[in-house]
Amino acid sequence: MSNTLIIYGTTMGNTEILAGKIDSVLKSREVETTMKNVTDASVNELSEYDVILLGSSTWGDGELQDDFAVFYSDLEEVDLKGKKAAVFGPGDSSYENFCEAVNILEKRLKKCGAELLLDGLKIDGDVDESDEMVEKWTQQLTGHISP
Ligand SMILES: Cc1cc2nc3c(=O)[nH]c(=O)nc-3n(C[C@H](O)[C@H](O)[C@H](O)COP(=O)(O)O)c2cc1C
Repeated sequence: MSNTLIIYGTTMGNTEILAGKIDSVLKSREVETTMKNVTDASVNELSEYDVILLGSSTWGDGELQDDFAVFYSDLEEVDLKGKKAAVFGPGDSSYENFCEAVNILEKRLKKCGAELLLDGLKIDGDVDESDEMVEKWTQQLTGHISP
């Protein structure tokens, strides 16, 4: 079964909650996972995993969560050919650039050569009410990574 790394960046904890929900669903389907705050992660460890999941909330005027700055910049130098990936994030559709961080990370992953397995998961508002969407998205994801 694919070895999956989940990296999240969060300011108020919502993306961590979302990452935890995805992690639980994957584990319940016997996918081997490692979950890390982006502040504890390095692009050098990406080569050790088959599947890379990145999660970031959107801040400012459609920007990545602050803690992602270094990791995002370091990613530019990384070759992710042969890696499978997907992106998730919470946001708020009352902002003009809804969940733009998801789009930003998807673009960067593609540029690095990773294969995006499915459209990013964008949660509008309260992540505590996202179980159904998370379950559906993660189930779809698992379909792509199961042997
Ligand atoms: C000052 C501010 C700016 C924000 N900008 C955006 C935005 O441009 N697009 C969006 O979808 N959500 C935006 N949000 C909503 C956050 O992304 C949302 O609250 C998210 O759940 C925070 O997740 P976190 O706790 O993991 O950082 C903004 C929130 C604040 C307080």
